[in-house]
Amino acid sequence: MKYKSQKVAYWFFALCMLLFTLQIVYGFIMGFARIGMDGLHDFIPFNTARAVHTNLLVVWLLTGFMGAAYYIIPEEAQTELVSVKWAYVQLVSLAVVGVVAIVGYHFNYWEGRKFLEIPRELDYLVVVNVLLFLGLILATLYKGKRRTTTALVLTMGLVFAALLYLPGMIWFDSQVTDSFFRWWVVHLWVEGVWELIMGGILAYLLIKLTGVDREVIEKWLYVIVGLTFLSGILGTGHHYYYIGVNKIWLVVGGIFSALEPLAFLAMALFAMYMYRKGEKSHPNKIALFWTIGASIVSFIGAGLLGFAHTLPQTNIYTHGTLVTAMHGHYAFWGAYAMIVLAIISYALPNMTGRKRYNFDAGHYAFWLANIGMLGMTVAFGVAGVAQVYLERIMKLDFMDVQNEISIHFIVLLLSATMFATGIVLYIIEFAKHGQPTDEALNMVEE
Ligand code: HEM
Ligand code: HEM
Ligand SMILES: [Fe+2]
Repeated sequence: MKYKSQKVAYWFFALCMLLFTLQIVYGFIMGFARIGMDGLHDFIPFNTARAVHTNLLVVWLLTGFMGAAYYIIPEEAQTELVSVKWAYVQLVSLAVVGVVAIVGYHFNYWEGRKFLEIPRELDYLVVVNVLLFLGLILATLYKGKRRTTTALVLTMGLVFAALLYLPGMIWFDSQVTDSFFRWWVVHLWVEGVWELIMGGILAYLLIKLTGVDREVIEKWLYVIVGLTFLSGILGTGHHYYYIGVNKIWLVVGGIFSALEPLAFLAMALFAMYMYRKGEKSHPNKIALFWTIGASIVSFIGAGLLGFAHTLPQTNIYTHGTLVTAMHGHYAFWGAYAMIVLAIISYALPNMTGRKRYNFDAGHYAFWLANIGMLGMTVAFGVAGVAQVYLERIMKLDFMDVQNEISIHFIVLLLSATMFATGIVLYIIEFAKHGQPTDEALNMVEE
């Protein structure tokens, strides 16, 4: 059964699409700058574009997670959201804080801490916003008739993600300490608590799309949570190798981060196994593609490409090069972008009543975006390996090396164009579904 208040999710998803589009625009600005076409340099220099690109990514993904929670939690808890009005207040304030931060970056109002560029004053507004969001979700769960493992894992991921934002707000005079705690946010998010969010959304989608019993699916979810914590927490050490802290982290970080792919492998096996076991063939094939796709691509992008530079012996060469960008793109894409696009693809027809899942455009969107992103990953990877060789082994000057490898950015831009075409198709499909209605939600049968 569906609940009227689930409709709030639609507007979060719409904001998500808008911010995602902007993120891609800034990606192109950087891509062109890399081949010498840097006409916007005076207004948007590379470092600003980079901060905007990555921050928009984080904000649109979080907006997507929030939308997912507003959609999933009422249904899992079997009750309406405690307040739809406050959910809209939360949405608008989120958009306002996001826009202020992004505009500020163009006027040099930002802190040079990769991924955590939002100035500390604005962080307080972020905190208020997130508290409001969590308040609504927790109150709904508390009021609800049912508490499922899926809902608890999703909520736990969201609560921990909020708590882990705090270490990034403390001031340190020492660069080393600052870097040490910056990773509590950046690493423990993507290789820890966000995995719980992903696991929760994945479990929900698999229950809906494959028809396999909840008990079976949720048993797997425990295994994934266990593997995530076992490897991810001490795996933080793979960022502590050469930053000036105790050398014990070379061993601890190496061993535990090498285990991290297991959690992603478990998710991929989990999704494929449930798909094959499932008796029900749900008509929403597009949502199924994105769901299974997320589990497989995240294993490759995060698990395999993460492993490729996680041991101290390799990381000493690859650290901070385009090898990192290669892994960053495919990991974020597979794990978090694809799972958000999956829940949107599932929820949209239910909320709007338009069953558009047999249209070719949805399939083209999936394949163009995925092949495009794979091409981008290869381009970054080839450029990254060449960079490591020329800069760190042949000891050429940094800028000379950047010139040498700029040719690879042509391949990057071609692949990015394919990728962007896929995303444009996805967004056109999104728009074609129209807006959500109560009647549509009442008619959903599972
Ligand atoms: C979905 C999960 C993941 C995402 C979204 C992700 C994303 C990223 C990003 C964006 C960075 C750059 C961070 C920065 O420099 O501030 C990074 C760095 C790194 N990641 Fe991941 N990652 C994920 C999982 C993994 C896994 C499972 C491993 C290991 C098996 C791994 C290994 C690494 C390493 C070693 C670095 C440091 C690279 C360097 O020294 O420059 N990552 N990751
Ligand atoms: C049109 C598409 C895109 C283009 C042309 C593009 C291009 C770029 C470029 C040139 C950089 C800077 C690399 C450097 O330091 O030189 C970058 C950084 C980054 N982009 Fe993209 N991007 C695109 C889409 C995306 C998408 C869809 C995602 C996530 C799913 C993403 C995630 C990232 C991340 C995480 C970084 C920081 C990597 C790091 O820490 O090293 N990008 N992007
Ligand atoms: Fe990490």
